[in-house]
Amino acid sequence: MRAVQTYLESFHLSLEKLQEVSARLRKDLIRGLGKHSHHRAAVKMLPTFVRATPDGTEKGDFLALDLGGTNFRVLHVRVMEEEQKVLKMDSQICAIPQEMMLGTGEQLFDHIADCLGKFLDSQNLKEQTLPLGFTFSFPCEQKEIDKSILIRWTKGFNCSGVEGRDVVQLLKEAIHRRGDYDIGSVAMVNDTVGTMMSCGYKDQSCEIGMIIGTGTNACYMEEMKNVRRVEGEDGRMCINTEWGGFGDDGSLRDVLTEFDLVVDRTSINPGVHTFEKMISGMYLGEIVRLLLLRLTDDQLLFGGRTSETLRTPGKFQTKFISEIEEEDDGLDNAQNILTELGLKWDEVDVRVVRLVCDAVSSRSARLCAAALATLVNRIRVNRGRGHLKTTVGVDGTVYRKHPNFSEELQATVRLLAPDCSITFRVSEDGSGKGAAMVTAVAQRLALQSRLLEDSDGDEEEEEEEEEEDD
Ligand code: BGC
Repeated sequence: MRAVQTYLESFHLSLEKLQEVSARLRKDLIRGLGKHSHHRAAVKMLPTFVRATPDGTEKGDFLALDLGGTNFRVLHVRVMEEEQKVLKMDSQICAIPQEMMLGTGEQLFDHIADCLGKFLDSQNLKEQTLPLGFTFSFPCEQKEIDKSILIRWTKGFNCSGVEGRDVVQLLKEAIHRRGDYDIGSVAMVNDTVGTMMSCGYKDQSCEIGMIIGTGTNACYMEEMKNVRRVEGEDGRMCINTEWGGFGDDGSLRDVLTEFDLVVDRTSINPGVHTFEKMISGMYLGEIVRLLLLRLTDDQLLFGGRTSETLRTPGKFQTKFISEIEEEDDGLDNAQNILTELGLKWDEVDVRVVRLVCDAVSSRSARLCAAALATLVNRIRVNRGRGHLKTTVGVDGTVYRKHPNFSEELQATVRLLAPDCSITFRVSEDGSGKGAAMVTAVAQRLALQSRLLEDSDGDEEEEEEEEEEDD
């Protein structure tokens, strides 16, 4: 067991180390926000042009698109002011085949337009031009709420001809190529932003959105005066941190293990999204697989004999970690999974495998806690408060499905941000309902500013009329 512990120790991060990690991220946030330093920043800190969280008066019917994992979804959403509710009227899932994730951008967007067309047909909505919220969960340099340039693909996507292009434009072109329906105004949304906004309708102190699923990321409300890249000093803007890129400049070198280095090297995007690769669902299973292989090679597991399946990349799925760590059935689950993987195990092996899973998932939860602590502390300092009460909207399979991930994350944030009381709210379909909410808030703000402009105009006209009377 001691030899096993030596491997696992490199996954244990002390509270002091986590404090260091949190302090490094704090510096990176500042660099990412800077007018000149952001070009070189590992943590991109992207302005989202979402300037307000919901105030509860939003309403109307919206379409939402959600692209970010292996499935693509289309939704029809109704925001109901009277009941303070966001209703999913209907939705449809379309699979994105692996070849399409690696094909051309045109194929991908034609597929999206096709799914949307079929959905509108089935709902008899083709004749209406509803406003549309597009949850596109990849790092985008947003120029406006409806102009969003893809910086790079992540999470296994790599379609050609999309990086560096405006995603809204690509979607509109695909719809115009068909010519059988149209859409209204578009709001581009990262899934973290959707998650924050979908919790924000009910709980208006929700100012952070966090995802720990296939990928990981968070957004939060930053003071405009600190967002140097966007004109204006007043109010706040939601910043999509893209914290998955933390460490891409080498700042996490001391916490990376040899297994993380292999995961990175063998990924389709080596050298980028270092933090994400230590944390999110796309990679956790693979880290465990590599550890199990190494322990077996060192004769510490399975009598030194691996299996063809265990030697195959991707075969140890992240969901196995959750199943193996379950309190009551975990050991039974582990036995079944190991048998499925073609391994010959004994009682001790099963317990060692569980320890390995625990080391990997626990590191993920603690690293996320360190990053979240940086954000809540920043909001607290921004507001000049000794104590901050805030809400975090959360989503993602790792957070939702793992038996003790959320508990460990929350307990660790409490230690790292003792001056903040945080409520965690699991978002109900942030990527769908949240996208509609962002669109609804954008419409409310546009309407308010139009009313303001109109009333300014009235005054001018009146003044002119008065002059004429004179
Ligand atoms: C993307 C983010 C996204 C996160 C969670 C990351 O890979 O870069 O934009 O929010 O995954 O889906």
